[in-house]
Amino acid sequence: MMHYRSLFRFSHYPVLQSLCDRADPNLLANFELMKQSNERFLNITNKVINYGGTVAHQKLAERNKFPVRERITRLLDVGSPFLELSQLAGYELYGKEEVPSGGIVTGIGLINKRFCMIVANDPTIKGGTYYPITVKKHVRAQEIAWENKLPCVYLVDSGGANLMRQDEVFPDRDHFGRIFYNQANMSAQGIPQISIVLGSCTAGGAYVPAMSDENVIVSGNGTIFLGGPPLVKAATGEVVSAEDLGGARVHSFTSGLTDHFCTSELEALQKGRSIIKNLTTKQVGDIRDDQPLYDIEDLNYLMSSDLKKTMDSRHLIARLLDGSRFMEFKENYGTTLITGFGELYGQEVGIIANNGILFSESALKGAHFVNLCQQRGVPLIFLQNITGFMVGRKYETEGIAKHGAKMVNAVATATVPKLTLLFGGSFGAGNYGMCGRAYGAKFLFSWPSSRISVMGGDQAAGVLTSVQQQTIVRNGGEWNEKVEKDLKQKYSQKYDYESSAYYATARLWDDGIILPTQTRQTLGLALLTSMQHYKYERTGHGVFRM
Ligand code: COA
Repeated sequence: MMHYRSLFRFSHYPVLQSLCDRADPNLLANFELMKQSNERFLNITNKVINYGGTVAHQKLAERNKFPVRERITRLLDVGSPFLELSQLAGYELYGKEEVPSGGIVTGIGLINKRFCMIVANDPTIKGGTYYPITVKKHVRAQEIAWENKLPCVYLVDSGGANLMRQDEVFPDRDHFGRIFYNQANMSAQGIPQISIVLGSCTAGGAYVPAMSDENVIVSGNGTIFLGGPPLVKAATGEVVSAEDLGGARVHSFTSGLTDHFCTSELEALQKGRSIIKNLTTKQVGDIRDDQPLYDIEDLNYLMSSDLKKTMDSRHLIARLLDGSRFMEFKENYGTTLITGFGELYGQEVGIIANNGILFSESALKGAHFVNLCQQRGVPLIFLQNITGFMVGRKYETEGIAKHGAKMVNAVATATVPKLTLLFGGSFGAGNYGMCGRAYGAKFLFSWPSSRISVMGGDQAAGVLTSVQQQTIVRNGGEWNEKVEKDLKQKYSQKYDYESSAYYATARLWDDGIILPTQTRQTLGLALLTSMQHYKYERTGHGVFRM
């Protein structure tokens, strides 16, 4: 039904022309750089996913446990996609202390044809305890679930708060307590909260199942208690085993904290699937996959990880949208910003893509287009490669700050689902106008070659060095070419390190790094998830022609 309607409605959209001559020396040079960037990403990801190797897996097998990602695979429908979020959270975040994937795996997959949010502790990373980044990732997964009304399934196997970092995980608003606050409020709004207890749930961790609507527990491995045996002994002198204190039998037969008693992980995961089956939440229907006309692999030739090189975003759009069909809006005005309509997996979308620096006209065009999509209830996809807004006397005089603010305002107040992809630079206020993290994008992904910082490294080194020069000279210090060169190098290196996609994703400034070739599928899944329960909201004003 939807297919017919969308075909009828959009069949007249023109097909983008986007040739890729892979023998072109320029494109080959791009490819060499992109290849390096992609390989680095794959190497890091492989290490993170396989952390602990066979030793860790053997230890789990001895305890009759599956590795965390295998648990998820067995929980999801056969062949279901899994949109894993922030796989590299925590990467190089705590010095020598490695916390692969932040110690927790989160993501969206299908259980009995329903999109669900899975939050799964990894017991091989410090007993599944919560580092600050673990808490942040868990809370972000809940935020996505809440916004998109996704049932939450928690695969619990955790020693609770990481006691060495209690000051960073316990007391603040978005710390451990927020997890349970979110559970209570999601449940109150009809968003199911299900726990499958596969290991420890100690202290604060006990509240994950305790605050859930329905619980499953595995006998022999699952335990739930506010204070473990050592704490009980220290507090009251009572000596009791973990199983007798809070094992599956205690909670399923006596305390009533759990609802389903299972004898194996496999049985528990199957039970979890059955619970989801009887929910009344929407099932995902057939999805139309009208592939683009051009090979997505071309992106590794047409795009570059050298951000000084010009990249024509139309090449990306041509490999993102259904049938490569795209109707540009204001094609001949404010040309450093591309705006227009197309479809992704049969869902109509508005595209906003950088194609150069933002000038006043491009900002006004962006604001107009966002308003238009908001008025029509069309979701927005922002494709970011932005060095910022134009600076200089001429531009300040013509009011670039106020024009840019209109775009930022339109983006901030738009309530249609917004998705963002960083495929190049994300610098300065350009990040705001193009729906950076602070602007409520439902999902935000980055390519491995992308960079994000308040300004580019060279510019920042120039500004910082000149500020420092003034201070040194004012205080009668020595200033010469060598001092200047050394300082510039120092600042440039700092920016180089801090602006990398890895630095950003480790801190959860995005929802994960993806390869260029994963762009269509990832944004498509994110879009389908975001549109499932979207309800059109009228704006308080009409469309402003800028
Ligand atoms: N905080 C910080 N580190 C912790 C921790 C915690 N709450 N719980 C465990 N760890 C560390 C251990 O010191 C160990 O570190 P190491 O690998 O550097 O030696 C690592 O996590 C694995 O712990 P281990 O006990 O060997 O693993 P396990 O799989 O046999 O047991 C637990 C895991 C979580 C069941 C067990 O460690 C435990 O009961 N921990 C205490 C939980 C607790 O009381 N939490 C209170 C939270 S408020």
